[in-house]
Amino acid sequence: MKVAIIGCGVMGSAFARQLALKGHEMILCDRNSSKTEELAREINGEYIEAPSEAASQAEILLLAIKPKDLGGLAAEIGNVKGKLLFSILTGVSLKDLTNTFPGATIVRAMPNLAITCKEGIIALVSDRALSEEMTAQVDSLLEGMGLVFWTIEEKIDAITALAGSGPAFVLVVIEAMVEAGIVMGLNAEEAMKLAGQTMLGSVGLLFAQEGHPGALKWQISSPGGTTIAGLKALEESGVRIGMMQAILAAHHKSQEMF
Ligand SMILES: NC(=O)c1ccc[n+]([C@@H]2O[C@H](COP(=O)([O-])OP(=O)(O)OC[C@H]3O[C@@H](n4cnc5c(N)ncnc54)[C@H](OP(=O)(O)O)[C@@H]3O)[C@@H](O)[C@H]2O)c1
Repeated sequence: MKVAIIGCGVMGSAFARQLALKGHEMILCDRNSSKTEELAREINGEYIEAPSEAASQAEILLLAIKPKDLGGLAAEIGNVKGKLLFSILTGVSLKDLTNTFPGATIVRAMPNLAITCKEGIIALVSDRALSEEMTAQVDSLLEGMGLVFWTIEEKIDAITALAGSGPAFVLVVIEAMVEAGIVMGLNAEEAMKLAGQTMLGSVGLLFAQEGHPGALKWQISSPGGTTIAGLKALEESGVRIGMMQAILAAHHKSQEMF
């Protein structure tokens, strides 16, 4: 399929690379011409500067600009009636999108950057019941990028906070583990390997056993041992409430983004 990505920054370029790998014909549109032309060369796509031209040539549009830029883009893009339009814009509702792009079939998506390594999350909602054919088209477009699922719009802000912003919160934890390793005399490279593999292994364990994180944590904690000493220090530092507050702050922000 011919897909135009409007806004080829962090997320737009991640989608562009994944979709190109799946064999789609890519049109890239961004107001930063040199970096986008370079990306177009890398993925064997086409750079088109004008959003209206990019939109008219594609069957599917993926909007990956910041929410504040939507008004300006809407004026530039023109009529997209009859097109399938994906928006990954945080906080921009289906109603806002339908009013901005009348006549388009709108799918609002909330992805995270882990689509880059095919371990992402993409939550989808639509403004109308999509035909079976259209739903299959959307699923096949995004297949292979991670966990892709349809949901209801009322859940999108929570998904944004937990899964859209979530990788940044987890990365802070990994960074802290690495720095603790460096304090103990490991070099950064070995500390990074150990912290990353420990994170991967913990998630693998949780998914394999379909258990509760708290119960698994106890399996690792010998009475009077190292793990329980560390867990006590972790509780005293407030890490648990800190993580909850981070996710709730992101949730609050996503409700007032647009
Ligand atoms: N980053 C994430 O992990 C993540 C996760 C989930 C959802 N999102 C959502 O994804 C969207 C994109 O985020 P991002 O982090 O990829 O942003 P980004 O890196 O800033 O990319 C946006 C790109 O769009 C360009 N642009 C803006 N208006 C344009 C216009 N009218 N015509 C052509 N190009 C235009 C920007 O140019 P300038 O640089 O010149 O402004 C920039 O290159 C946001 O709405 C965000 O809420 C992001």
